[in-house]
Amino acid sequence: MSPAPARVTVPAEPLVLGIESSCDETAAAVLRGRTILSNVIASQTEVHAPLGGVVPELASRHHLEQIDLVIDAALEKAGAGLGDLDAVAVTHGPGLVGCLLVGLQAAKAIAWGRGLPLLAVNHLEGHLRSVWLEHGDIPSPSMNLVASGGHTGLYLMEEDGVPRRIARTRDDAAGEAFDKVARMLGLPYPGGPVVDRLAPTGDERAVRLAHPKMSDGSLDFSFSGFKTAALRHAQSRGLTRAFPPPEGETPSQETRDLLASFQTSVVGFLVDRLMTAAERARARAVCLSGGVACNSLLRRRVAEEAERRGLAMFSVRRDLAVDNAAMIAEVGRRQLLAGRRAGLDVNADPGLEL
Ligand code: KG4
Ligand code: ZN
Repeated sequence: MSPAPARVTVPAEPLVLGIESSCDETAAAVLRGRTILSNVIASQTEVHAPLGGVVPELASRHHLEQIDLVIDAALEKAGAGLGDLDAVAVTHGPGLVGCLLVGLQAAKAIAWGRGLPLLAVNHLEGHLRSVWLEHGDIPSPSMNLVASGGHTGLYLMEEDGVPRRIARTRDDAAGEAFDKVARMLGLPYPGGPVVDRLAPTGDERAVRLAHPKMSDGSLDFSFSGFKTAALRHAQSRGLTRAFPPPEGETPSQETRDLLASFQTSVVGFLVDRLMTAAERARARAVCLSGGVACNSLLRRRVAEEAERRGLAMFSVRRDLAVDNAAMIAEVGRRQLLAGRRAGLDVNADPGLEL
């Protein structure tokens, strides 16, 4: 069989299918220009929750089961068929290799069969651009905090639209720290939303958790110290629990005090770094993206600090903050309009950087 002949013209508002499968969400979305026609996410949280974290082998098997269904659902919801598409965009890294390959193969098959441009998207650029997808143009320069379960970094965006990394994490990601602390206290996975919900019922001044300092003055992040300090405190007070926790156990006041202290300290650290980076770059706006951008305290603190400093502040709504394919289609749309294309030989790149 030979592939369909390649299309040559690109409309100003192209119809782009996005596909995302880098971790534990199988996702597909259709954009017409910047308008989201569909954004379908099949979450595997229920599969991995009893195990306390994402199991790569299980994740790729579930992607295989879900990918066609999710793509069909996204097309149907958008009222489009494969023949209507102008391009296919897909995450090719970073992420779990077996998971990335499932989305990549699906995207390549569609691109080859329909003669469509294939666009290979960096997952982190997807998170970063989710802010633009929701809000349109953001004042330049902007300082962007991308914080998820796998990555945490600060990126400067200037007029040219090329992200420049200002800081990265030297160990765990912010979301990973939330997940690990919740787990050691016997709380369900993923821990971030649970900590967010329980922390307001605890005393944030109960436990002192110091911010790490970089001896070289860099704005890089580090979260393993928070985690170790929380573990030491939990052990000394007998707060640690086996995972999974017994059904129906409610966290003690001491546990909630630790959660509140942990969240306040981590959020304070994120906000300090973001604001210092924004100041150094003379940014006009600060943006939040990635799963951790759902955190209520983080949003509130960044909004307060931004207002105090006269900066515009943008964060993304929940369905665009967590892993989704609309953000991947958005980066693909930008590549398409800029004339960039990936070859059918593009490979998964688990360690891809931004
Ligand atoms: O962006 P995302 O869906 O997937 C990755 O690319 O990793 O982020 C998931 C991460 C998890 O670590 C989860 O605990 C964290 O985001 N998260 C939160 C909240 N909601 C999700 N962390 C803190 N507060 C929240 N409300
Ligand atoms: Zn992500």
